[in-house]
Amino acid sequence: MSTAAARAEVPNDLAAFWLPFTPNRSFKKRPRLISKSKDMHYYTPEGREILDATAALWCCNAGHNRAPIVAAIQRQAAELDFSPTFQFAHPLAFQVSSRIAALAPGDLDHVFFTNSGSEAGDTALKIAIAYHNVRGHGSRQRLIGRERGYHGVGFGGISVGGMVNNRKFFGSLLTGTDHLPATYNREHQAFTKGEPEWGGHLADALEGIVGLHDASTIAAVIVEPMAGSTGVLPPPKGYLQKLRAICDKYGLLLIFDEVITGFGRLGFGFAAERYGVIPDMITFAKGVTSGTVPMGGVIVRKHIYDAFMHGPEHAIELFHGYTYSGHPLACAASLATLDLYRDEGLFERVKMLEPKWYDALMTLKGLPHVLDIRCVGLTGAIDLAPIPGSVGLRGYQALEYSFHEAGIMLRLSGDTIELTPPFIVSEAQIGEIVEKVGRTIKSVA
Ligand SMILES: Cc1ncc(COP(=O)(O)O)c(C=O)c1O
Repeated sequence: MSTAAARAEVPNDLAAFWLPFTPNRSFKKRPRLISKSKDMHYYTPEGREILDATAALWCCNAGHNRAPIVAAIQRQAAELDFSPTFQFAHPLAFQVSSRIAALAPGDLDHVFFTNSGSEAGDTALKIAIAYHNVRGHGSRQRLIGRERGYHGVGFGGISVGGMVNNRKFFGSLLTGTDHLPATYNREHQAFTKGEPEWGGHLADALEGIVGLHDASTIAAVIVEPMAGSTGVLPPPKGYLQKLRAICDKYGLLLIFDEVITGFGRLGFGFAAERYGVIPDMITFAKGVTSGTVPMGGVIVRKHIYDAFMHGPEHAIELFHGYTYSGHPLACAASLATLDLYRDEGLFERVKMLEPKWYDALMTLKGLPHVLDIRCVGLTGAIDLAPIPGSVGLRGYQALEYSFHEAGIMLRLSGDTIELTPPFIVSEAQIGEIVEKVGRTIKSVA
């Protein structure tokens, strides 16, 4: 666009915006527009009410436009717009770090800020390799992920991730990666409430990977405690404990990607606590500000931070960071969000709702084309059978019907419906979600 054109009036139409992870042509024929939100609801520009069954990509755990968070962001914008955290800092960044470290289990005591889950994933992988380097183990460079894993869209994240479409268009990716098998098996696990009994043994595949490459070449293993984006795959009982034991045996760092599971989604500050497994690093984003201002980060254990604190004191210890790491608005939003989680007991609320949520979702069993229903914490997924030859079409039709006809926001991953409401969801609203999802499933039968 020319400078003159940039100054002139331009039409506000749908052409210029290339939507991420969206079929742009279908969307622009029948857009799903949202212009307002409050608590459990979105509103379209015409004022139609849409029940949010997704917490907006698993972000808005506290619900939408909560007054204390809005006020904190407004106050902060008027006080300090931005200050760098390279060589300078502002007090809120230290305050939020301490609060997050206090929420994390064990000696996960230090926080490195990013602006998204993708940046958090790549940051954790870089810290893992650098950690071995600074300790004189420079040959430990391999990174192990898992099939069906999602760690964002940076080159590191897609290289250790295991979602085929996110990888196959983007060349050779990082070298030196390998993947554990996915933990899902419909034959053994279908219609399980919570963590499946079958599948703990799948962690033993890490022994095979170590046997192939040798531990001396492997830096870290990264997994989501519960794989979210690929359709809510709760960890089989004992699986994460086994991974921890094998990592310890061979000196591999274990990274939990808690971008979805962090901040209460499974009824605890972090899934690490639910499962009693302390990883070496946790990545987070989304719920840290209840989605209001972009923020992510990596929490590292004391031994990792300490390994870098050597050499001349005037020298930078880790050559990594983002201009907006620890942005003042994000810090203010996070502090208000963490207060709200605590004051309203929202993580405990997830625990209280969990059995009712499971029972409600399982009533959808038996509807047309429902192949499996999974749930853990306040998450759920319903696999629908694909239309033969058109994988994802039934899911897209369900997305359109649910928004335009049923008045509910769902997340569709292919033909899988994902449900992750804000923690303030009432029991009556859980009933409403199930009724609307049921109607949607029948509409695409
Ligand atoms: C487990 C996990 N890791 C990383 C990401 C990427 O986060 P972002 O989209 O903020 O980059 C996501 C996003 O859904 C996620 O679910």
